[in-house]
Amino acid sequence: MADKSKPTIALTGATGFLGSHLMSSMLLKGYTVIVLGRSTKEEPLYERISRLLRWFGIENRLNQVTCVDTDLSQDNLGIENEEYSRLCSVVGSFIHCASDTSFSESKRDKVMAANINNLKGILEFSRYARVNFFHYISTAYVAGLSENVCKENLPVTNSFTNVYEESKAGAENIIAQYCDKNSINLSIIRPSIVYGDSQNGRSLKFNALYFPIRSVQSIRDIYLNDLKNNGGKKALKNGIYIDKEGYLFLPLKIYLPKEGDLNIIPVDYFVNATIKIIENCFPGGIFHLTNNSPTRMTTLVKYYEQLMKVRGVEIIYGKSADNLSRNPSEELFDRFIEPYRPYLSDNRIFDRTNTDLVTGNLNPPEFTYEIFKKCMEYAIRVNWGASIFDN
Ligand SMILES: NC(=O)c1ccc[n+]([C@@H]2O[C@H](COP(=O)([O-])OP(=O)(O)OC[C@H]3O[C@@H](n4cnc5c(N)ncnc54)[C@H](OP(=O)(O)O)[C@@H]3O)[C@@H](O)[C@H]2O)c1
Repeated sequence: MADKSKPTIALTGATGFLGSHLMSSMLLKGYTVIVLGRSTKEEPLYERISRLLRWFGIENRLNQVTCVDTDLSQDNLGIENEEYSRLCSVVGSFIHCASDTSFSESKRDKVMAANINNLKGILEFSRYARVNFFHYISTAYVAGLSENVCKENLPVTNSFTNVYEESKAGAENIIAQYCDKNSINLSIIRPSIVYGDSQNGRSLKFNALYFPIRSVQSIRDIYLNDLKNNGGKKALKNGIYIDKEGYLFLPLKIYLPKEGDLNIIPVDYFVNATIKIIENCFPGGIFHLTNNSPTRMTTLVKYYEQLMKVRGVEIIYGKSADNLSRNPSEELFDRFIEPYRPYLSDNRIFDRTNTDLVTGNLNPPEFTYEIFKKCMEYAIRVNWGASIFDN
């Protein structure tokens, strides 16, 4: 159970995808975790955490968790004075994993409030608690629109793909300055795009990697339904049919601005590497959790066609879809994937010198068809998250 030799961890974001996986593995390793989180209208924080631990099959570890309702925007994180002092006296290290992960410009104020304004209370708490280390879960995409090799250094660019990247880069600089001024040991951990568990396919979130796949699946289902229940009127008009081998022929051109890859890592790698970093890092270290063998969209399409029994999906590099006529499937797909498009043809190299040093060259696996199949079958089984807590 709890291992008294390990520091007590204060963790934000434990109700989210990465935070919950991290919490679960840290509990299994004997850490005691103070969850600084929020209740929802429907569910108190304690119930949210209990439900997640049941999903991980480790509800017996609940006694290693203290749930503290917090409002990160308030003084003292909205925690009553006595409890605040008590927590400061027991916390050993802080992991800040909470973040508003929306890419949408229309949510700028909300994203900036969560990712920038909320830092003040978290950093003050860490100063009062005299933490051994403050670990910030950032993103490899603080690199913004920079090209070529992205170093494990503080962000240098002011040009970003979206408000999320901008807020995370701004946060890194604010945190680094505060920690430097107040002699707090800092590490910054930068994953690329995280998908489900490479061992069993399970995941709590189905965005990024899953989104293009889910989009093609939705389009496929519209036409399969039309062929089955409507005599295929729409399908035949658009050259869509089921071929002799039972594959759906779905002509769909995906336009990407340039050749490049999708840099993805599985959540089990994220967790294992993060724990190694937390246990072995050096002050000021920045760590890229990225894949040296990223995945090409053409590979994803091949995997998709094999799993879903579809043919006709094609990637066209180097052309913007704006000036080309598109069929209805292409129009729909374009709309679905718009926020993710910049991440689908990335050809940057992420330097991993610090990560390799501290993790003993722990690298993410190559994204094979077997891993893809496990992840997509799980996603489909839980209806892309809609029935996740039933499985
Ligand atoms: N997922 C990825 O592929 C990926 C890749 C690179 C980096 N990251 C980074 O990893 C971290 C976790 O990402 P994720 O994918 O796990 O995100 P997520 O599933 O969307 O979870 C976000 C977490 O942050 C909390 N949160 C959001 N806004 C908050 C606010 N205003 N006040 C307090 N808590 C708030 C959420 O709490 P509620 O549940 O109460 O809303 C939730 O616990 C983030 O820092 C993100 O930038 C993620």
